[in-house]
Amino acid sequence: MQRTVTCGGLRKVDDGKTVILNGWIHRIREHGGISFINLRDRYGITQVVIDNDSPSECVETAKSLRMEYCIAVKGKVRTRPDSMINKDMATGEIEVVVQKIDVLNKSEVLPFMIDEVNKDGTPVVPNEDLRLKYRYLDLRTAKMQQYIALRAKVTLAVRNYLSSNNFYEIETPTFIKSTPEGARDYLIPSRLYPGKFYALPQSPQLYKQILMVAGFDRYFQIARCYRDEDARGDRQPEFTQIDIEMSFVTRDDVLEMTEGLMGEIFKKTMNITLPTNFPRIAYDDSIEWYGTDKPELRFDMKMQNGNFMADIGTFQAFKDAVAAGGTVKALVVPDVAEKYSRKLIEELENTAKIYKCRGLAWMKVGTENILEGGISKFFENKGEEICTKLGAKTGDLLLFVADAKSKIACASLGAVRTKLGKDLKLCNPDEFAFAWIVDFPMFEWNEEENKWDTAHHMFTMPQAQYHATLESDPASVKGDLYDLVLNGYELASGSIRIHDPELQKRIFKIVGFNEADGQKKFGFLTEAFKYGAPPHGGIAPGLDRLLMIMCKETSIHEVIAFPKNSFAVSPMDECPAEVDQKQLDDLHISINIPSEKSQS
Ligand code: AMO
Repeated sequence: MQRTVTCGGLRKVDDGKTVILNGWIHRIREHGGISFINLRDRYGITQVVIDNDSPSECVETAKSLRMEYCIAVKGKVRTRPDSMINKDMATGEIEVVVQKIDVLNKSEVLPFMIDEVNKDGTPVVPNEDLRLKYRYLDLRTAKMQQYIALRAKVTLAVRNYLSSNNFYEIETPTFIKSTPEGARDYLIPSRLYPGKFYALPQSPQLYKQILMVAGFDRYFQIARCYRDEDARGDRQPEFTQIDIEMSFVTRDDVLEMTEGLMGEIFKKTMNITLPTNFPRIAYDDSIEWYGTDKPELRFDMKMQNGNFMADIGTFQAFKDAVAAGGTVKALVVPDVAEKYSRKLIEELENTAKIYKCRGLAWMKVGTENILEGGISKFFENKGEEICTKLGAKTGDLLLFVADAKSKIACASLGAVRTKLGKDLKLCNPDEFAFAWIVDFPMFEWNEEENKWDTAHHMFTMPQAQYHATLESDPASVKGDLYDLVLNGYELASGSIRIHDPELQKRIFKIVGFNEADGQKKFGFLTEAFKYGAPPHGGIAPGLDRLLMIMCKETSIHEVIAFPKNSFAVSPMDECPAEVDQKQLDDLHISINIPSEKSQS
């Protein structure tokens, strides 16, 4: 009873053929002594009928069948009468009248139904841990089948595109030396060398650079990466990057190649034509306009500089912020003055305050541009001037954050902008708005440790015009690094790398890595660079994040076959888990859990 066709393959032209189908019972119902089975496999669903034309033993077997039994049926394809045609099913014009049924395997009572819908047609979504515990059932749902199929297509498009552009796919080790790269490493104790550890790579960064030294001038890898960091919707402890590195290139070469790659992925898998080039936004502008380096660009609504408000009114908070060298950021929200009650504005303020500002000031533009409510009393008769400067009009809501630290004002009002985008449904769900963020600062100040850190990683090339002033003015240095953003997410990061060991040593020094430290952690890289390292650069788009956005999901878990939950646990196989004492003994490891962390 091996299948001759799949459950998605039969059409009207197959009328009269005898076929064998293998699959799972999606639904089964009985109607006036006739059993109707929706038989499902990866390719679709076919209606299978057991009626008076079927042998009596089939009628008997049908009585014992339940949902998700795996069965084989042999039968004859029959065109359905016009009134029974199901236009929502690809196979909806036919049915298969059963001549023989084999039960290949029974199923226990299901913890949840596959593709169950509410009365209003919306899907019933079981809680996530239940879905992950029974992931093999969850993966049978139409949505997950579609996502996993898309993932396979995207991966294939990546391989095809990069291979046809002369890239080699090269694997790099997943047992490496622990090197600082931003997050915490996952460690693997060595049995052969007690007290020593391998680490799982946070990315193949150093290896791909060494491959450039080795002369493989175009490398890529669909690379698993491992990071022990706090959970977030768009993060997983183990995730996949489309890791890329190229030699003898400038920034523009890497950006254009990536644009081509994204174009190919969207065209081949979703038949969407992306623009050939994506807009490029300088980091400083992105912060000024959107308050973030991962702006949502499906709507415009840029923030503006409202410093002039400190001079023309009597509102002290604005004056103090500007006097202290800070800024007043302004946001004009068109046509919502009436809609936004005090309560709704308070909600916006709560969002702003998460980013440490003191408050969110507001006014509404009434008829003839007269300002109303909020802080309007501090700006009497200034409606016309303010509206002209900010490009506002009657019916608009004006929002402001002032702070002595411009960064806080931008981030706080930027968060309000993002929230408004969601609340007011300003984003077209079918749009994919890509942009490059370029000219990032090379260093950022680490308040806790009172020192400079590199904003990306330590191998990023500072832009050439800053090489002379690296040590004297690190705050002003821009790095030759870039991020690709998509619909408010950071999709990829990359940079042109340092290939000169002397320059690398200077960077180590600025971030407080002494020569011995540098030698111990990355000595093998600096050593390799002594042997004719070519100029090189690269990028790494997150594959899971890309799929999450393509599938219009907000959790990365949805596009990974076997993800960990938000607590880094896999409910299906219950990892992480204890190991046998013998295993620990072999590794010379003793467990010493502080009482507050031990679980009963
Ligand atoms: P970076 O650390 O910015 O750069 O990572 C690149 C991209 O990988 C994805 N990503 C993640 N996806 C899911 N879960 C995570 N925990 C996670 N962390 C990162 C994001 C991100 O933009 N070696 C450099 C790249 C380079 O310079 O070439 C790197 O790893 O989409």
